[in-house]
Amino acid sequence: MIGAQWGDEGKGKITDLLSKSADVVVRYQGGVNAGHTVVVQGQTFKLHLIPSGILYPETDCIIGAGTVIDPKELIAELDRLEALNISASRLMISESAHVTMPYHRLIDQASEERRGNRKIGTTRRGIGPTYADKSERTGIRMTNLMSSETLQEQLNWAIEQKNVVLDKLYDLPPLDPKQVIEEYRAYAERLAPHVTDTSLRIYEAFRAKRNILFEGAQGTLLDLDHGTYPYVTSSNPVAGGACIGSGVGPTMIDRVIGVAKAYTTRVGEGPFPTELKGGVGAELCDRGAEFGTTTGRQRRCGWFDGVIGRYAVRINGLDCLAITKLDVLDSLDEIKVCVAYDLDGQKCHDLPGDSSQFARCTPIYETLPGWKQSTDHCRSLEDLPQQALDYLKFLADLMEVPIAIVSLGASRDQTIIVEDPIHGPKRALLTDKLSIEPART
Ligand code: GDP
Ligand code: IMO
Ligand code: MG
Repeated sequence: MIGAQWGDEGKGKITDLLSKSADVVVRYQGGVNAGHTVVVQGQTFKLHLIPSGILYPETDCIIGAGTVIDPKELIAELDRLEALNISASRLMISESAHVTMPYHRLIDQASEERRGNRKIGTTRRGIGPTYADKSERTGIRMTNLMSSETLQEQLNWAIEQKNVVLDKLYDLPPLDPKQVIEEYRAYAERLAPHVTDTSLRIYEAFRAKRNILFEGAQGTLLDLDHGTYPYVTSSNPVAGGACIGSGVGPTMIDRVIGVAKAYTTRVGEGPFPTELKGGVGAELCDRGAEFGTTTGRQRRCGWFDGVIGRYAVRINGLDCLAITKLDVLDSLDEIKVCVAYDLDGQKCHDLPGDSSQFARCTPIYETLPGWKQSTDHCRSLEDLPQQALDYLKFLADLMEVPIAIVSLGASRDQTIIVEDPIHGPKRALLTDKLSIEPART
């Protein structure tokens, strides 16, 4: 299950919903930059690194090799869950995942400051610098954290290097290796019972024919390779990332579910063709409570972008979509959907790979009537106003992908399951109810 836009699509809610049918839930990329809000029976849970499946007592949860782990934040998250009587004993953490160190956070913050108007608008959680060290082969992995001597040797060396960067490049005071080593040894002790070979654990579950749900963080357009570079995160949130980040082969994955909002949001910098500043944008922000779970930043809001939707279908090989936050559109007289871009006077149906071209794209809209009534009580397609049904059908047709789930509120029950996306017939989802028209030319 992956995010089909720029993140915050409501993946936490949909993961929680699908976890009911899953024996194992795996996070495969990203770190505490993610923020997933799950509402169960009026209680709100905010998760960052721990898979949203943790709320089911029987489900095994795995944090895979492709993630980056800030042990301090992870332990705080474990403590918050334990305070709510949610056991994290079924949590497994990959020994190969890389560890975020204090210098990663400092460098992320200082480099954002230094970039001025070139800033990415990162979450400042040290995500990029942790992945950079991984690529540079100077990173510290969970397995190294578990060995006191290795940790001491690696951290002494790493901090010596990073102190030069902190001082010379950013004019920041040096870190004391002794203090950091002591701090991280305590984290290691707390996390040790969870650290294991997670690729092997997933394979064992696969061989035992258990249902495994791979939970993407961030979204397709934040993908390091396939997103709107450089305004992206430093990992691969796309479906292909699930294999690499979990250590499983592509033949083990049966189907891919995309999550998209009924409109679009983005946090941080970078082009956003359908962005609405003020007016309807402010209304969407207000009705959708579009403030980041991790940083509290206000999310930029705009109309649904079908070019991005089609791109997400292609890049992820989506079998079906979950459309979330349809209820947020309830009050609108009319709703626009971007069906193509105008790029330098040419009509363009595909996302341009060149970021300067993408920045020049302006949306070409089709306008649909709003339904001007509340939908948050709807529990089946038959309950929806005709205009809302027409809107969903328009999106499914535009993206040429069936819609399996419609979400109309934050809680578990505010959902229409059109077809069970896990057990339902593959690629036949929804087609008998919302007919999918033949491929557009
Ligand atoms: P994620 O990062 O993709 O998991 O999404 P976030 O949790 O960051 O943001 C989605 C927000 O919308 C959360 O506050 C959810 O509780 C909320 N939400 C999810 N689905 C719906 C929905 O269908 N309607 C409304 N109104 N809110 C929703
Ligand atoms: P979830 O899982 C939305 C964005 C940041 C910034 C860019 C790079 O909740 O959907 P980073 O700290 O990763 O180096 O920041 O990516 N970003 C997200 N935006 N949802 C997220 O996660 C995000 N994680 C990172 O705002 O633009
Ligand atoms: Mg989020």
